[in-house]
Amino acid sequence: MLLVSSGEMLQAAMEGHYAVGAFNANNMEQVQGIVEAAVEERAPVILQASQGAIRYAGLTCVVAIVRAVAEEADVPVVLHLDHGTDFDQNIRCLRAGFTSLMYDGSKRPYQENVEITSRVVRIAHVCGIPVEAELGQVLKSTDNVTEEEVLAAMTDPEQAVDFVARTGCDSLAVAVGSVHAMESAQAELNIERLRAIHEAIKIPLVLHGSSGVKEESEVEAIRYGIAKINVATMLNQAFTRGMKRALASMPDNTDPRKTLAVSREEVKEVVRHKIRLFGSSGKVTASGYASRPTQHRAVDIGGTEE
Ligand code: G3H
Ligand code: ZN
Repeated sequence: MLLVSSGEMLQAAMEGHYAVGAFNANNMEQVQGIVEAAVEERAPVILQASQGAIRYAGLTCVVAIVRAVAEEADVPVVLHLDHGTDFDQNIRCLRAGFTSLMYDGSKRPYQENVEITSRVVRIAHVCGIPVEAELGQVLKSTDNVTEEEVLAAMTDPEQAVDFVARTGCDSLAVAVGSVHAMESAQAELNIERLRAIHEAIKIPLVLHGSSGVKEESEVEAIRYGIAKINVATMLNQAFTRGMKRALASMPDNTDPRKTLAVSREEVKEVVRHKIRLFGSSGKVTASGYASRPTQHRAVDIGGTEE
C-alpha cells in the first residue's frame, strides 16, 4: 500500500477505543520487524522517525526504506516525524513525503509554541497532512527528573482548549506522568488529569514515553482519548537483546545478516505484544477502516477563478 495519513487512522482509533502503536525505527531491520508484526496482526501502524534517526540514516533513505516496506504491506502504514522541534525540519519532512508531522514546541514559551505550531499546521493542511503538537512537557529520564518536576510539567486542560483552538493541531501529545527513555515500566499515569484533558478537547491524544509506563496504566489511558502510543526505548532494547543473543550463540559468525535477523525477530515480537495490548490487532478489515492513501485524496485548491 501507499503510505497513508494519520488523520483518519487516529480518528478511527479514538472512536473505536483502541490505540495505534507508533513505533520508532532507526534502521531497515526495525522497520521490517514493525511492519511484519502489523501485517500479521492486521493492525494499522505508525512508523516514526525522530530527528536523531533522520540524522543517522539520512532523510531520503528513511523515506525510501519506509515507503518500500509499506508498499509490500497490505495494512495501512503512516510515516510520522517524531518530535520535530523546529519549523524547517517539519517542512523538509513534508516535502520528502512524510504523511504525518509533529511540531514539538513544548520547551518554548507558550506563545511561541502556539505561533510555530500554527504555521506548521497551516502549511501541512494545505497538503492534506495532519500535525501532532505537544503541550506541557514529557520530560526525559536522563535529565534525572523528580516527581515534582513531572507534576509541574503536566498538560493543563484549560490551556489545552486554548491551544487546540488557536493552532488547529490534529492530535495532542500530553504530559500526564510518563517520562521519556525509562528502561523499565514503573510509572503510573495521572488518569484524572488525562480524563480532564479528554473531556475538554475532542481530538486524539498521544502518549509519549510509553516504555516507562505500566501496561495496565496504558490500557486505562486508552479509555480516555489516548489514540496513539509512542514506543521507542523498548524497541531499541529488543534490537540490542537480539544482537547480543545472536553474537553469543554464533561467536564465529561474521555475517551481519545472521545477527540482524535475530534482532528483527525480537523487535517484531515486542511490537506484536504492544499491538495486542493497545487493542489495534484485527482493526484492518476487508473494507478498510476508512483510511485512504493520501495521494488519492481530493484537495481543495482554493481561489475563485476557473
Ligand atoms: O517519541 C517517542 C516516545 O515518546 C517514546 O518513548 O522511548 O519511552 O518509549 P520511550
Ligand atoms: Zn516522545
